[in-house]
Parts: sequence; C-alpha cells; structure tokens
Amino acid sequence: IDESVLPQILDKRDLASVAKYVKSPECKRIFVMNGAGVSTSAGIPDFRSPETGLYHNLQRLNLPYPEAVFEISFFRENPIPFYALAKELMPGKFRPTITHSFVRLLAEKNLLGMCYTQNIDTLERLAGVPAHKIVEAHGSFADQHCIDCGAPYDSNKIRDHIRKGSVPTCDQCDGLVKPDIVFFGESLPPRFSQTVPLLRSADLLIVMGTSLTVHPFASLASMVPENCPRVLINMDQVGDFGTRTDDVVCLGKTDEVVKEFCRLVGDGWEKELEDLWKET
Ligand code: APR
Ligand code: ZN
Repeated sequence: IDESVLPQILDKRDLASVAKYVKSPECKRIFVMNGAGVSTSAGIPDFRSPETGLYHNLQRLNLPYPEAVFEISFFRENPIPFYALAKELMPGKFRPTITHSFVRLLAEKNLLGMCYTQNIDTLERLAGVPAHKIVEAHGSFADQHCIDCGAPYDSNKIRDHIRKGSVPTCDQCDGLVKPDIVFFGESLPPRFSQTVPLLRSADLLIVMGTSLTVHPFASLASMVPENCPRVLINMDQVGDFGTRTDDVVCLGKTDEVVKEFCRLVGDGWEKELEDLWKET
C-alpha cells in the first residue's frame, strides 16, 4: 500500500474511513477472522461470554473443568459430555447470520483474500462463501474419523448417534469415533499453516466475534503487514487491538456493525447484503 495514500483515508480511523478505503484501488485483498461471536445471533452460544457462554453452562456435564469437553485425554475416558454438547452444536439446525453473509458479500466483490474461522458450525459454507476462501482452523462437524485407527465414519450414522445421545464406535476396531473438530492439543488442519503466508499480502484485516484467546489462531492478527489496517468488530476490546496506529475498534454486535459498514460503503452494498442473507 502506498504510504502517502493511507493516512488520508484512515485519518479518522473509524468505520467511515474504512468504508472509504474499501472502495479505493489500494484495498484489493481483505482477510477475515471469525470467532463464535459471529454465530451467537444464529442461536449457537459462544464459549466465554459471562452467563451465556458454553464454558459457563457445562456444569450439568460434571466436567473437571469446562475445556475438558474438547480434550482428547478426557474424551477417551468419557465421550458422553462431548456428545451431549455435539447434540446442541450440530450443524443442520442453524441459519447463517448477516455477518456470515457479509463475508460472502466480500467474496462476491472479489475482495475476500481468505476467511479464517475458529467455528465448527460450517455457517460460512452455508452462507455461500466459496470453499477455497474458507479455512476452518478448528475443523468442523463435516467429517469424522476413528481416533484409534483413523478409519472414516459415516456422516449419517454419526448424526443418528448424536440425535439419540449414543456414542458411535469404529466399525473396524471398535475405537471411539470423533468429528474432525480440533481438540486442545491436536494439530490444526494443514490448510491453516499452508495459507497463513497469504496474510502478508493483506490490504485490510477484519476480526469479528472472538476473544482472541486461543493460539495459534489468535496470532494471525499480528501477521498482517504493519501498514495494513485492522478492524475489530466485537462486544469487547481483545488481543493487541489499539496498539497499531491503523487499528479501528468497533465495539458492538457484529450483525449491526456489518450492516452499518455496508450502509457507509454505499454502492448498493446494504441491499446486496440483505439479499444474500435472504437466500440463506
Ligand atoms: N457481536 C459481537 N461480539 C460478540 C457477539 C456478537 N453478537 N457475541 C459474542 N461476542 C464476542 C464476545 O464478547 C467474545 O469476546 O465474541 C467473543 C467470543 O469469544 P469466545 O467465546 O472465547 O469464542 P472464540 O474466541 O471463538 O473461542 C476460540 O476457543 O474453546 C475454543 O476451539 C474453541 O474455537 C474456540 C476457541
Ligand atoms: Zn478404528
């Protein structure tokens, strides 16, 4: 980005200046980072919000501590809590939010470099974001395998088990079957490390609905070039946002802020966003 151009566009360092920048020829590749906060208005609780966050509502599963529900060692001992939670989180019951449709709008405008998501709900796919523009860094419910012999397991069969509340076991070795969700301590999908270098070509980074507490995902936010503006859209300020001169922090609900952003961009973005969301 041509240094001389940026300060004029982002001089007010607020959403209106980002809306102007997005329409400038300097802004070609926008990178997005999503967390559970972009799906809460779809009815999927996030993890750490006080009261509503999943980690505050797992008492009934008598876990030693909340994160155990996503730990392999605990899962081997007792897979019941995970499968009880899976029943609540399972895709198929939820509709994408306006925020997911906003990511699709960026792709429609040929502005989306990549959408990195921590969410396992596959709502970016359901919103119509092209698959090659999505990195599901913590995996998803889309596929499942045996954790002992690695044999793939049938998607319909696991859905039946989850609905019935029973635990699926491997047809080959009777081992435990788990959806391809990245548990704590497991490595992230190869696509994550393969696509991280793309962030060096970012012209804009938009981080939405995440506490930026889980690494390595959270570290993506500091991988964009120093002169790449970063926008945080979140209920509260998180990570190192505010430490860079071109950081823009928008505290509020993602659905409301992305709508306001499209209104500020003009050029029919607001109507296109509504239409894309109506399609979901
Ligand atoms: N609009 C804006 N922000 C929101 C909204 C909303 N409608 N709803 C929630 N938030 C914010 C919360 O204030 C919080 O800062 O989203 C953030 C959600 O943070 P977490 O619950 O920690 O979710 P996330 O950051 O995605 O968790 C990361 O932790 O448990 C692991 O693997 C799991 O992917 C998950 C990872
Ligand atoms: Zn097996």
